[in-house]
Amino acid sequence: MVRKCLFPVAGYGTRFLPATKAVPKEMLPLVNKPLVQYGVEEAVEAGMSFMGFITGRNKGSIEDHFDKAFEVETAIAGSSKEKLIEPVRALIEENEFAFKRQNEMKGLGHAIHCGEVMMGDEAFGVVLADDLCIADDNDEGVMAQMVKIHEKYGCSVVAVQEVPEENIHKYGVIAGEQEEDGVYRVSDMVEKPAREDAPSNLAIIGRYILTADIFPKIAETGAGVNGEIQITDALLKQAKEGKVIAYKFRGKRFDCGSLDGFVEATNYVYERFFK
Ligand code: G1P
Repeated sequence: MVRKCLFPVAGYGTRFLPATKAVPKEMLPLVNKPLVQYGVEEAVEAGMSFMGFITGRNKGSIEDHFDKAFEVETAIAGSSKEKLIEPVRALIEENEFAFKRQNEMKGLGHAIHCGEVMMGDEAFGVVLADDLCIADDNDEGVMAQMVKIHEKYGCSVVAVQEVPEENIHKYGVIAGEQEEDGVYRVSDMVEKPAREDAPSNLAIIGRYILTADIFPKIAETGAGVNGEIQITDALLKQAKEGKVIAYKFRGKRFDCGSLDGFVEATNYVYERFFK
């Protein structure tokens, strides 16, 4: 069982300025729900019940969102509006939320390392809320699919997707041997390679299940691409031990870290769930 999920949410969201000047990018609404709530719902659907957030300055509204809002809840009690807040109320009542600050911005690997105190010695999920994953009709979400893969192979799992070669430099990219349809034993991984250096067209998207031995491996990982401590570099150490599986998930994924992806996701969610 994977009980815990980590949400690195300390990034500045500069691509969405001025919207993200005072509002964390994870709180931008996709139709009527903040982006980060979609990620939490996906983790809960996968059976996780402890949500750990790695936050930073100006991220207080994420904490407020996953807490009771006494005034507004009292104001709408008994009215037709109550049903709008019920799903998030249920999330808060049924799950645990914890917050820790990353007080230096040293990369995704560093952010995940900050979560060690919350994740402890169990395997845990990681959701990058920027990557919005929507399940197909009558199918489970990406994290739920990954938990099954983790249970079968007993090691770390990264979600991958084929991307066109002109976009490959934006991602961590894997090479591996196919174990079964859509499942690869990772032999190599490179963070943000130049197109000609990419080991494949399989890019890592923002869903991971990490075994706890990732923490000492991050600790011994130096700065990589962009001078940041990269989770990809720490995962490569597990991969060299044969302990990373890449999984080509079912469902749709939107890059909500870009304006185009955010608008595309908004249109898709509105058309599919609100019409
Ligand atoms: C991060 C990871 C990268 C991964 C990507 C998925 O990069 O470092 O390996 O492919 O998330 O969204 P970022 O998008 O934070 O630059």
